[in-house]
Amino acid sequence: MTRPTPRVRKAVVPAAGLGTRFLPATKATPKEMLPLVDKPAIQYVVEEAVAAGLDDVLMVTGRGKRALEDHFDRNAELEAVLSGKGDTARLDLVRAATDLATVHYVRQGDPRGLGHAVLCAAPHVGDEPFAVLLGDDLIDPADPLLPFMTGLRDELGGSVIALLDVGAGHIHRYGCAAVEPGDREGVVRVTDLVEKPEPGRAPSSLAVIGRYVLDPAVFEVLAKTGPGRGGEIQLTDALRTMARDPRIGGPVHAVVFTGRRYDTGDRGEYLRATVRLACRREDIGPEFRAWLRHFATAELAG
Ligand code: G1P
Repeated sequence: MTRPTPRVRKAVVPAAGLGTRFLPATKATPKEMLPLVDKPAIQYVVEEAVAAGLDDVLMVTGRGKRALEDHFDRNAELEAVLSGKGDTARLDLVRAATDLATVHYVRQGDPRGLGHAVLCAAPHVGDEPFAVLLGDDLIDPADPLLPFMTGLRDELGGSVIALLDVGAGHIHRYGCAAVEPGDREGVVRVTDLVEKPEPGRAPSSLAVIGRYVLDPAVFEVLAKTGPGRGGEIQLTDALRTMARDPRIGGPVHAVVFTGRRYDTGDRGEYLRATVRLACRREDIGPEFRAWLRHFATAELAG
């Protein structure tokens, strides 16, 4: 008799990276704390996990990441000042980050790659499927992806990853998947994976983006996975082992995402995400859009 598979409840958010692409801003501030409008990037990620029903979040952190813990913790002094002033709107904003989810932390120690960061989550996750959300990838809240992925895992078992067609010219910056068609629209079966293929050697232009729903068998595979691209233990390499042999942790399916995703680790995309989110805001949006229209027509056109 097969065991009923538990539902996905836990999210793992690797957040140990150095953020060198944003120096000097990230010299003393974790890159995950850089704001998009007025909210740190990491809070969007935790909100996305919670919106998908995952309210147990484990952050894998490292040196210099204390600000992350402070952000999701109470700040009694600040709350007292705001409530003394009767500023309930800001008090709600401050408390929202704390009340969002139960956030746990584990430190990675040696930064030995994404696969190693995920392996650090093994004692917390245990023997149940879980999600991994990479903080540099911002999925537009208007285009929800994760609930679809957890639903697929419930239905099909195994693991589910997310792919985006980035075109042949950009695929060398990503994990790349070889796929075969599946039974339903927008879902494919992954047959092979390669981390950051050499130009011209990629099996497709489908890039792995930073949302994964993983079978816990991945931990055993990661523990046996040696260093790969860049001398790091790569999650892509462990998933490759699983995709090639479905006896280990079931099949690997992928959702081919057609919504909006921003690589907020890239300065240009970070700015674009900020502008888009600002335009959509009810409070500052109308004025900002009017300014942007003027800026684009008057200043950029000339
Ligand atoms: C990581 C993964 C890669 C994936 C990418 C998505 O790479 O290793 O497979 O395509 O995230 O953003 P990184 O961007 O950390 O180099």
